[in-house]
Amino acid sequence: MRILPVSSGKGGVGKTTFALNFALALAKRHRTVLLDLDTGTSSLRNFLDVRVGKDLFHFLKKDVPLAECRESLPPAMDPEGAFANFSFIASPPGFVQDIVNFSPEVKEKLIAGINGLQADYLVIDMKAGLDRNVLEFLPLSNSGILLFTPRLKAATLTAAELAKAGLFRMLGVMLDSPLLRNRSGPQGDEAQAAVFQKLRDFLESGGQGSGLNLDDLIGVATEQFPQDNFLRVFRYFVENYKIYYVLNQFDSVAESVENTIKPFVAEIFRSASARVTFHNLGWVVEDEQVRRSSESGVPYLVQRHYRNRQSAPSAPPDMDARLRELFGIKPAKIPPQKKDLSRELSGQLDLLRRIYVFNAGKDPTTNLEFIAARARDLSDNSAHQFGMKRIFSVPEFLERFQAQLQ
Ligand SMILES: Nc1ncnc2c1ncn2[C@@H]1O[C@H](COP(=O)(O)OP(=O)(O)O)[C@@H](O)[C@H]1O
Ligand SMILES: [Mg+2]
Repeated sequence: MRILPVSSGKGGVGKTTFALNFALALAKRHRTVLLDLDTGTSSLRNFLDVRVGKDLFHFLKKDVPLAECRESLPPAMDPEGAFANFSFIASPPGFVQDIVNFSPEVKEKLIAGINGLQADYLVIDMKAGLDRNVLEFLPLSNSGILLFTPRLKAATLTAAELAKAGLFRMLGVMLDSPLLRNRSGPQGDEAQAAVFQKLRDFLESGGQGSGLNLDDLIGVATEQFPQDNFLRVFRYFVENYKIYYVLNQFDSVAESVENTIKPFVAEIFRSASARVTFHNLGWVVEDEQVRRSSESGVPYLVQRHYRNRQSAPSAPPDMDARLRELFGIKPAKIPPQKKDLSRELSGQLDLLRRIYVFNAGKDPTTNLEFIAARARDLSDNSAHQFGMKRIFSVPEFLERFQAQLQ
């Protein structure tokens, strides 16, 4: 199973709408479960005209197995069973204190439940917000999808904050681990301890204030202690941190780059690192039918599927073939040291243009199928950690980290 959390930082960017339709697009070929952890006001059950028997409450409070809290689309909504591979787990309708607040017990139980689910994909509509509990729930790598939109400028910076917070959390776990104290190689003196303390302080302050970023600090530290194995691996984890994003209510290639991607990338470069990489999975255009579908109780893709059946059925485009064409030829790897903002942005612009040409992007159905195909492609690519197979606990993560240290 591949776990794909969809997060946004801020609410109102279309996270629930996207997570729902993205899960439905995946479900055309794969067993896909959508889990609603967005316990706020625009939760999934308000978008779906489906009678929910069991939900997260039953799992968390009544010990019903998580798989038995799944609901499918009723025959009235999906008469041909075109989305028979789709199921969803709703959050409870009322306010249940420790579910909404994600208490440690709830978190632990949820992670165990999730890791035990049998499916090909699990899409999670994540809770909005930047608090510790939300963050700690995300896998220890940025393996899900970050959604933001040119429509809501403030949401772009929150998305950058969220991506950064995920990176800092992962690095914080490394610095707090016994592996730092017990590492092999030259160590032990105070100067070296001070270097790691500086990094720790930087992460704890959220990278604010000092005017430096991670690259600066790692650079100075590496100059001082070129033999330090821990630093080498620490830097490797920064360089391999990947951010996958989707633009919702996409307007135009040029505007999206200028108003959305640019401030997003610039903020991460400035306050975190210019070594992380960005991967655009596509976009969903602003569309009146998409908007209305969230009130009608029938998801956009389901409506479209049955409407297309009534009119002349057209062969769906083969997104996988298109993707192979689009991404099959690997671009030369740019050495991370040479990355700067303008180079990164021209890369993102180029990518958007290519996706635009291939995806001929005005139709949300095509957009969603493209994103689903891209998600599939990335999940199968071992160079990416996209779609973690399970949610790692901190000790499990540290085991992987330790393997790198040796
Ligand atoms: N691509 C889109 N085109 C038009 N309206 C959209 C689109 N995506 C989302 N919306 C609308 O935006 C509003 C917020 O969406 P929602 O999914 O509830 O956001 P969130 O879960 O981030 O709070 C809803 O009214 C929804 O219909
Ligand atoms: Mg929502």
